[in-house]
Amino acid sequence: MRGVSFPRRRFFRPTWAEVDLGAIKRNLRAVRDRMPAGAKIMFVVKANAYGHDAALCARAAESGRDADWFGVSSVEEGMALREAGARLPVLVLGSLYPFESVLAAVAHDLTPVVASLESAKRLAEVALKLKRRVDCHVKVDTGMGRIGAGPEAALGVVRYLAALKAVRVQGLYTHLASAEDDGALTAVQLRVFRRVVAALSREGLRPPLVHAANSAGALRRPASRFDLVRPGLAAYGLFPGFEPALTLKSKIVFLKTVPKGATVSYGATWRAKRPTRVATLPIGYGDGYPRALSNRASVLVGGRRCPVIGRVTMDQTMVDVSEVSEARVGAAAVLLGRQGGAEVPAGELADLCGTIPYETVTALSSRVPRVGVTS
Ligand SMILES: Cc1ncc(COP(=O)(O)O)c(C=O)c1O
Repeated sequence: MRGVSFPRRRFFRPTWAEVDLGAIKRNLRAVRDRMPAGAKIMFVVKANAYGHDAALCARAAESGRDADWFGVSSVEEGMALREAGARLPVLVLGSLYPFESVLAAVAHDLTPVVASLESAKRLAEVALKLKRRVDCHVKVDTGMGRIGAGPEAALGVVRYLAALKAVRVQGLYTHLASAEDDGALTAVQLRVFRRVVAALSREGLRPPLVHAANSAGALRRPASRFDLVRPGLAAYGLFPGFEPALTLKSKIVFLKTVPKGATVSYGATWRAKRPTRVATLPIGYGDGYPRALSNRASVLVGGRRCPVIGRVTMDQTMVDVSEVSEARVGAAAVLLGRQGGAEVPAGELADLCGTIPYETVTALSSRVPRVGVTS
């Protein structure tokens, strides 16, 4: 439009997530410091780095040498990391189906997981087709029951691949089902896994990278550490003792005082017991701020907790700011994270929704710009 100039900025709607890349690096270093010397760190950046922006997080970790590997769940996620310039090895943790995706994984320099004899055979075909040696990690199911060859079958897969020149079994791994709270199940899983590793060692087939631990395993079950650990939760500061990296921010875009008896939002589920200052924030369930938080969550304004009132709508949420005299249009609001001395942790929002912090942060939609900051 002639005669009209727009400021150059990435977004206008004042709703965004700040990702503290300094906190992520410190968290990764803190994990490394607690591991045996030489243990490698696979930074799990699947699901857009648990909502924290995989490209931002991977670049930060790579530049500080705070990770040795990245873990993603799909070829698509791995390709996006490569497009963002990531150079470290990337393990595709999910099952590769359809098998054409194995070809795409190898073509993009991603390391596939082999979870069955059938997928081992397909990988061998791909290696022959591409006329190059392909690395893979073999997944053993020791009790998670998701993907992976059972202990006996895994031995068969490794033996089969070891006989081929075209494929190298670089890693052997398993996943713990409840390292955070069930020591007995973890012990059984590790015993089964160790047996597989021992059998391969006896045959001279132990892969160089044996791994089992997620954050809880790495930090609470030393027996699960092996050669490499795979933290996700701890890296994002969502594990006790680590620094949360994500702050979900917005600003008041509309402010009014409603009289006693007035109702707010769909279904009139909230009614004013007294004259109330109501602030509107431009964020809703379309951004991944769950509707289940209606009339339940708190939002920080002026460093104080203000209740969400009425239903969270698709794009907007109302908050009672009667106790915050400095609240005005343009004032900052924090829906997740810290403001001043107050905090709304991901665990609090997760509890209110009957879920876990993993879901709370991965639910943040693509509509919310992620902005990297470094503290
Ligand atoms: C195979 C695998 N390894 C590691 C992780 C990281 O787990 P956490 O975020 O609990 O550290 C996950 C995440 O679910 C996973 O699926």
